[in-house]
Amino acid sequence: MNIIEAIMTRRSIRHFTGELIRDEDLETILKAGFQAPSAHNKQPWEFVVLRDREKLRAIKEFHKYAKMVEDAGTAIVVCGDKNKQDRMGFLVADTSAAIQNMLLAAHGLNLGAVWCGIYDSNSLVEFFSQLLKLLENILPIGMVVVGNKIRDRSIQDRYDETKIHYDEW
Ligand SMILES: Cc1cc2nc3c(=O)[nH]c(=O)nc-3n(C[C@H](O)[C@H](O)[C@H](O)COP(=O)(O)O)c2cc1C
Repeated sequence: MNIIEAIMTRRSIRHFTGELIRDEDLETILKAGFQAPSAHNKQPWEFVVLRDREKLRAIKEFHKYAKMVEDAGTAIVVCGDKNKQDRMGFLVADTSAAIQNMLLAAHGLNLGAVWCGIYDSNSLVEFFSQLLKLLENILPIGMVVVGNKIRDRSIQDRYDETKIHYDEW
């Protein structure tokens, strides 16, 4: 799949077979995350790979919009290091770029994935910080849930010329 096709056909996948993704695919997805652009090239991301059944179940119970995580079998919590990037806007932008890279990599590998939000929900940040024993300077931003999809989803064309402005509004 080429990059344009991947971008145009990616959808959030929330239904999984329950079969774990292969370790080499997990590694490829993580590598894609590391390749993201970041402000001043600070690369302030950290990745917590979760496969522990009890932890996945705990997330499923706590996170209202991450009920699919147990069936997926793998989640990657993408965190930002506040010591490496102290501007929150940049920290969120950098880690979000990493998340999007990972979603596209998963799609390119014919896997299903969905971005689950964490920051800036205080209760979710608190929950993940405790569950994963995160250090004080490490902020959980979002979670990539990835697994073997049951089926593809239809492509949505969201192109909207009215939202494009040339040279001025
Ligand atoms: C910051 C952010 C947080 C999101 N949080 C969740 C979530 O908690 N659970 C979920 O199922 N989807 C979540 N999504 C996925 C969106 O619902 C999804 O991207 C949107 O509906 C568009 O659909 P698509 O990804 O299939 O194109 C999130 C997306 C973003 C960018």
